[in-house]
Amino acid sequence: MFEHIEKLPDDPILKLSKLCRDDPRPEKIDVGVGIFQDTTGETPVMRAVKVAEQRIWQRQTTKKYVGVNGNDDYNQCMAELILGSGYDTNRVRQNQAVAGTGALRIVAEVLRQIAAGKQFWTPDPTWGNHHAIFGACGFAAKTYPYYDREKSIVNRDAFLAALEKMGPDDIVLLHGCCHNPSGADLTPADWDKVADIAAKRGFLPVIDLAYLGFGEGIEPDAYGVRKLASSLETLFIAASCSKNFGLYRERVGVVLTIAKDARTADALRSYLATASRAMVSMPPDHGAAVVAEILSDSALRADWEKELNEVSAYIRLRRQQLADALTKTCGGDWRFITDSHRGMFTLLPLGKERVERLRNDYAVYMVGEGRINIAGMKSEAEVARLAEAVKAVL
Ligand code: LMR
Repeated sequence: MFEHIEKLPDDPILKLSKLCRDDPRPEKIDVGVGIFQDTTGETPVMRAVKVAEQRIWQRQTTKKYVGVNGNDDYNQCMAELILGSGYDTNRVRQNQAVAGTGALRIVAEVLRQIAAGKQFWTPDPTWGNHHAIFGACGFAAKTYPYYDREKSIVNRDAFLAALEKMGPDDIVLLHGCCHNPSGADLTPADWDKVADIAAKRGFLPVIDLAYLGFGEGIEPDAYGVRKLASSLETLFIAASCSKNFGLYRERVGVVLTIAKDARTADALRSYLATASRAMVSMPPDHGAAVVAEILSDSALRADWEKELNEVSAYIRLRRQQLADALTKTCGGDWRFITDSHRGMFTLLPLGKERVERLRNDYAVYMVGEGRINIAGMKSEAEVARLAEAVKAVL
């Protein structure tokens, strides 16, 4: 049965982490996989998470199953965090999911059942796994224009014109904030237009929300999802707590389903629950219990948000340092790094070949055509070294 199978290629982002780990050059810079790293290169457990874990450990008397939809407190807290406290509870339902990927996957599974044959769209560029997740559910993605590689900004006109051509047979994946890989985000005015076009044209948005709070803070980063949730009849939001709670390995996420009425919302939730049951039976509880503990305790929540804001401020500082260093070292205009890009990533206009040279000759590990994790640079000296390496390959 297995005689003819060959080993599949590794995931390009995950492969890069291993290559970097195995690289003996001491000067190596890992700006690959999207995890936050502090000045020591650590990805610390957040303060509020430590407190919540301790409380849960002390209180927990059983490990019995929680349920197919996960932790109700967590689900409710997440809906409030993402949509704001006044959200329409009649039309919104939650399914806890195995992080952002698991959330997208159960949405894709349900769409395979009830929307097979519809066209699925991702932005160009997008996170590579989007194609794998929806591809596994039978959707061959087409891409819509999103990023202007010449100017390193959102290609607004082409993007909005593409949306104008979508209709009820289209499923459109959007990045809620901190676009991965480009860092180029929509402005509130852009989101208002997206909401108008989506309402008029009737396509189905699926929003990937993996970096809420990593851009400007929870409220400003949530503008787009809140706008669409309050303007549209139907959409899905697939949210992750990997980055903003630093719970990467705990695999915590949620699907928020917004439907036209309570009956449809309940029906969609049951489809998502059934898909999840067939895949993971029940989502893991620990991370969700931690998030619920943090979000339902005002002091803990305040401390979590404070630390999250420290993280995003640190990333903005590195952005500024990088823009300054590239301007000084390479000349030219690098203001897009601070003015148009947000969150963990920036796409430098390098291309695959230069990215390969940076890795081979300078031990700088970037993803794809030039995506860097801003938080991967541990010091201003590393920023300067990265800028020197970029100059050498330009
Ligand atoms: C990334 O884009 O680097 C992260 O989302 C991590 C991953 O799983 O790819």
